[in-house]
Amino acid sequence: MKYNLSIPHLSDDKRELKYIAEAMENNNIGSVGKFIAEFEYAVRKLTGAKYALAVTSGTSALHLALIALGIGKGDDVLASTFTYIGSAAPITYVGANPVFIDSEAGTWNLDPNLLEDFLKARRKCPKALILTHIYGQPANMDDIMMVCGRFGVTLIEDAAEAIGATYDERHCGTFGTAGIFSFAGNKLLTSGGGGILVTDDKRLIETASYYASNAREPMMHHEHNNIGYNYRMSNLLAAVGLAQMEFANERIYARRRIFKTYENAFAGDGRIKLMPQHIKASGNRWLTAALFDGVDPKKLMVKLANQGIETRPLWKPMHTQPVFSYAEKYVSGVSERLFGMGLCLPSCSQMTDAQVRAVAAEITGMLDITG
Ligand SMILES: Cc1ncc(COP(=O)(O)O)c(C=O)c1O
Repeated sequence: MKYNLSIPHLSDDKRELKYIAEAMENNNIGSVGKFIAEFEYAVRKLTGAKYALAVTSGTSALHLALIALGIGKGDDVLASTFTYIGSAAPITYVGANPVFIDSEAGTWNLDPNLLEDFLKARRKCPKALILTHIYGQPANMDDIMMVCGRFGVTLIEDAAEAIGATYDERHCGTFGTAGIFSFAGNKLLTSGGGGILVTDDKRLIETASYYASNAREPMMHHEHNNIGYNYRMSNLLAAVGLAQMEFANERIYARRRIFKTYENAFAGDGRIKLMPQHIKASGNRWLTAALFDGVDPKKLMVKLANQGIETRPLWKPMHTQPVFSYAEKYVSGVSERLFGMGLCLPSCSQMTDAQVRAVAAEITGMLDITG
């Protein structure tokens, strides 16, 4: 038996195929077509965002958010350090400087106290913060919103992994001026590659849409006053995305069930700690992430791989990445400790409880031997 970390979960009624066939039959497989609007609408409906724009990836959605907010050369942009490169790279695309802030132990997400301390000591405030909700678990939004409001920092939420996650009943991605979701192949819902930008700001979405369409001016011929990007999503991929969105509740429920089953299986075992959750948060548990005491997670990962169990180290903090060795950082050691202790466990929504228990038993068995 092979246990994957997170693979696409296509619907039993073949809805993705049905919608793709419809797009093909109507010869609508390019960057226009009804599935794009319907996919955007489905995301707006689930999240409560006023506007949504479907694009080629979560990374391009973040890039567009920065452009639309006028962030550019020489600007400082704060960012969660405990995240994936797609969260931080767009800062460099616009010529801005990333400033990485560490996580808090209670949520594994950006530490609002560190953020406040950093901003207090700073004469010129960074323009924006890209805040990640890591592994689909919401950050400490009350405190982060308060600090951002007090210092006039524009909030952009990287909710790439957090579709369906809420904090105080409000959807992640809708707290800030802009938010993004990824529909990459390993996500809880996928369009086979893609992203969505959400906002309540009409001008922001219009600007983002303009830059996603190679900055074409509204004229009969192709006129360009600016350099844009070819970031529009294809109607074919939107067809897949829409079909996936129609099963959002089932898929989110399954990921949460899987987390619960791991939690029950590891209960009372002091060597394993699962990712915590803020009291006001209801995360989607995209990936169940665990810390292992007294064990090298990479050795454990290799042993599990030999048994057909795919795991993955936690994200290596951005401030420790060679490519960002030049970047400013304000860190406490939390994210480095997480990276040194943790693994993401198989979390595919197709997994049955018995399969989750089998993986958990394999892990505890290995810990018994190693240590
Ligand atoms: C936290 C985070 N940010 C950004 C991204 C970028 O999304 P994409 O792969 O769709 O560009 C991802 C996903 O891969 C992610 O996990």
